[in-house]
Amino acid sequence: MQIYYFFSVVQKLAASFCIFACEIKFFWLVTTDSRATFGSKFGVILASVGSAVGLGNVWRFPYEAGANGGGAFLAVYLCCVFVLGIPMLLAEFYVGRATHRGAVGAFRKLTGNPFFSRLGYLGVLSSLFILGFYPVVAGWTFEYIWQSLTGNLTGLTSEEFSASFGAFSSSVWRPLLWVVAFLLLTHLIIAGGVQKGIERCSKMMMPVLFVMLVVLCIRSLMLSGAREGLEFLFKFNPSDIHPSVVLSAMGQAFFSLSLGAGCMITYASYFGQSTDLPRTAKVVALLDTLIAVLAGVVIFPAVFTFGIAPTQGPNLVFVTLPNIFSQLPMGNLWSLLFFVLLAIAALTSVISIHQVVTAYVEEEFRLSHAKSTTVVTVVAIVLSVFGSLSLGLLGNLTIGGMCLFDAMDYATAKILMPLGSMFISIFLGWKIGRTKLVDELTNGGTVRFRMAGLIAFVLKYVAPILIGLIFLSELGIIII
Ligand code: TRP
Repeated sequence: MQIYYFFSVVQKLAASFCIFACEIKFFWLVTTDSRATFGSKFGVILASVGSAVGLGNVWRFPYEAGANGGGAFLAVYLCCVFVLGIPMLLAEFYVGRATHRGAVGAFRKLTGNPFFSRLGYLGVLSSLFILGFYPVVAGWTFEYIWQSLTGNLTGLTSEEFSASFGAFSSSVWRPLLWVVAFLLLTHLIIAGGVQKGIERCSKMMMPVLFVMLVVLCIRSLMLSGAREGLEFLFKFNPSDIHPSVVLSAMGQAFFSLSLGAGCMITYASYFGQSTDLPRTAKVVALLDTLIAVLAGVVIFPAVFTFGIAPTQGPNLVFVTLPNIFSQLPMGNLWSLLFFVLLAIAALTSVISIHQVVTAYVEEEFRLSHAKSTTVVTVVAIVLSVFGSLSLGLLGNLTIGGMCLFDAMDYATAKILMPLGSMFISIFLGWKIGRTKLVDELTNGGTVRFRMAGLIAFVLKYVAPILIGLIFLSELGIIII
C-alpha cells in the first residue's frame, strides 16, 4: 500500500515537472509567433496556471484574509472561485479561443455592438494598473533574495523584521532598483524567447515551490500559535461577513485567477482547437486555490506565534516569513530558495499581464513584437516607479485617501476586474447565447461537459446579478 502511494506521488510529481516544462515552452511560442497555437494539453493548462499562481496567492491572499476576518473571508472566497471563478474562466477562454485575438481585437471580432466591442479596453486598462503595483512587490522578492544571500535575515526579533521591511519599502532607491531589474528581466524573456537555462530551471521551480510550501506548512503547524492561526483561517463565523468582506473576497478570486483583465482571453487566443477548456478551467481553479490556502496555513500560525497583527496589509508576508525562516536551521538557505521560487511565480504572472498589453499594442498599432514589447516595458517601468515611490517619498499623493499603490490595487481588484467580469458574463449570456457557448466549450460536441448548460445559466443570470449586488451593497446603495 505504502509503495503504491509512493509511486503515485512520484508519478504526480513527474507529471507536474512535464507540465511546467510545457508552460515555459508556451511562453516561447507566445514570444516568437504571436498567433502560434499550443500543441500540448499540459502546456495549455500550466501556462494558465503559471499566470494564475503568483503573488496573488502567497502575498495578496493572506493579507486580504487577515484584514477581512480570516474564516469568513475564506468561505466567501471559495464560493466566489467555484460559483463565479470557473464560469468566468470559461467565458474568457471562449472569447479568446473563438477569435484568436488579444482582448481588444477579440470583442471587436465577436460583435458590432458599440458598447461590447470596446470591452477589451477595460482589460487593457486593468492590466496597466496592475503593472503599476504588482512588479513592485515582485521587486521586493529580489530584495529578500539579496538579504538571504548576504545572511541578513537571521537573528532579528519580530519587531526588527517589521521595522526593516518598513524602512526598505518606503525608501527610494533600493525598491526602484529591484522593480526595474524585475521588469527588465521580464522584458528579456518576452522579447528574446526563453533560453535553455531558464527553461530547464523552470521545469523544476514550480513543483519545488509547491513542495516547499508543504514543508513550510508542516513547520508552521509545529509553532505554538498553530491552533490560533488555523482557527483564524478556518473558523467560519457568519457574523463576520460584511459587504466589504464579500467584495474583497470576490476581488481576490478574480485577481488570483487572472480574470477580468483580458489575461485569460489573451492566453486562450493561443490555445489550439482541441484544447479541453472545461478541464483547463477546473485544474487552474483547483491548483490556484490550493496554493492560496497552503500559503494561508503557512502564514497564520506564524502570525499568532510571533505576535504580528493579521491586519498589517501588504507587509504581512514579508514580515511573517522571515520570522519562520530565522527559526529554521540554515534559515538563509530556506529563505533564499523560497524567495527565488516566489520571484519565478511572480515572473510567469507578470509575463501574462504584460502580454495583454503587448498583444493590444501589437495588433492595434501594427507594431512589431519587439517594438510593442519595448513600449509596454517602458510604460510598466514608469507606472511601477510611481507605485513604488508612493509607499514613501510620494506618500502624500493620495486618491480617495489611498496612496497610489493602494489605489491601483483597489481600482483593479475591487472595481475594474469585477466590472469587466460582469460585462463579459452579460455579453456571453445575452449576446453570444447558450448554443454557441456550449458548442465552443465542448469543442463542437467532441468533449463531454455535462455542466455546460449550467455554466451558460450562471453567465446569463447568476454572475451579472451577483456581481452587481455585491457592488451596490459595497457602495451602500442597497443593504443585503
Ligand atoms: N493571478 C496572478 C496572481 O495571483 C496575477 C495576475 C496575472 C493577474 N495575470 C493577471 C491579475 C491578470 C489580474 C489580471 O498572482
